[in-house]
Parts: sequence; C-alpha cells; structure tokens
Amino acid sequence: MPRDKTHLVIAIDGPAASGKGTIALRLAERLGYLYVDTGAMYRAVAWQALQENISWEDEESLKHLAERLDIQFVRDDAEGTLRYRVLVNGDDATEFIRSPEVGRGSSIVAQHAAVRHALVAKQRKLAQAGGVVMEGRDITTVVLPDADVKFFITASLSERARRRYEQYRARGVNTDIATIEAELAERDRRDSQRSVAPLRIAEDAIVVDTTDMTVDEAVSTVVNLVRSRAISR
Ligand code: DC
Repeated sequence: MPRDKTHLVIAIDGPAASGKGTIALRLAERLGYLYVDTGAMYRAVAWQALQENISWEDEESLKHLAERLDIQFVRDDAEGTLRYRVLVNGDDATEFIRSPEVGRGSSIVAQHAAVRHALVAKQRKLAQAGGVVMEGRDITTVVLPDADVKFFITASLSERARRRYEQYRARGVNTDIATIEAELAERDRRDSQRSVAPLRIAEDAIVVDTTDMTVDEAVSTVVNLVRSRAISR
C-alpha cells in the first residue's frame, strides 16, 4: 500500500563527521518528523554492555541485550539549541554514549550480525508509520531500502577532521587535527570494509557534498530536495 505523501520516510547515510546528524535533526524539526540516530543505538548497546559486564565480543549475549534494550529519543531544547536526549531503559545516557570508550565499543558491537539484526528490527518498527528521518551507515541500503527519499551526505576528509576538531575544542577536549584525521580515515575504512552492511552509496541516493557549505546551506539544500521529491512523486 502506498504511504501517505505527507508522512515520508527519509533515509540518510554518510561517513563520520560529514554533517549528516545535524542535517537529519534539523530536517526532522522542519518537517515535524521523528528523528532517529541509529549510531546512538549501537552506542547504547555498547554502553549497557559495560554496565552489565558483557564483553563487546560476546555476540550471543549482546544480541539478547539489543533485543530487550529500550532506546528512546527525546527532544531537548533547554539551552535554546536544538538537541535530543537518548534514554536507555529510561535512564538518560546522552553524555555517556558520546565518550571515546563507548565510541570504540559501538564500532565493535556494530560488527556482529546478530546485534545488527536486532537493532534493524527496532529501526524498521520506528519507521513503519512514516514521518521519520533516520540516519546511519546502512539506512538507505539495508534498513529502509524503500525509503521515499535517500541521501548520502559527505565531505572531504580534511573538512570533516576540521569540523570534528572544532566540536572537540568546544567540549574542552585536547587533541590535534592530524590525529583526528587519521582516526576518521581509520573509521571510514572500518565502516566501508566490514562484511556486514558496509557503508556504501545506494544507487538511488542523492549525494550531497557539504565540504563548501555552511550548516544552514546544507540544511536548505536537503530540505529543498525533499520538497521537490515529495511534489514530483
Ligand atoms: O554515527 P556514530 O559515530 O554515532 O556511530 C557509532 C558506530 O555505530 C559507528 O562505528 C558506526 C556504527 N553504525 C553502524 O554500523 N550502522 C549504523 N546504521 C549506524 C552506526
């Protein structure tokens, strides 16, 4: 059955620090849609595993953990800037899941097919009714291959490193651009070469290169593309 055109399913993929998170969140806000950060779901599994002393290599236990984990995205505009909080089994895990340790754990748990299977089922359920913007690495290719509009958001490696450096600096993290660039290159390699659901550009995805765009320009570009796609369908 065709979906209601006013409740589109929008799928967004792209490499780390490409700007896809900010774009997806602001797009969802403009359209009044649900926003789903699937990277946060892999991070939530890694974080909860730490709480329960489950190894990031223990695929069987992680699978059960992923199946029973309750993950919710709650809007938070407390400081006047658009943000969301991630609740894991009802507890606010927003800050914990952003630690470098959990970041590393998330990329390990994301390699297990059984974990992916459990989270993909949750992700599809969230998108079932439409009116959703979902972002990650395999949304356009595996999770929602029938999405109404698909984007692949990218930017040059050096620009992504520069942006991540600014984010870290704003949070008081002491690092340098060369280190960040090397880490991003390594993550690109791991995300696009893993055997299960690697990062790749879907044939029908619109590629948006944000290297020379401000955040506002990138958001407007994507919003306009969604509007023109929605009208022409
Ligand atoms: O986007 P992020 O850094 O929060 O993602 C955390 C990890 O989860 C990252 O290593 C890639 C992985 N991931 C994935 O494998 N599939 C997704 N749909 C989203 C994220």
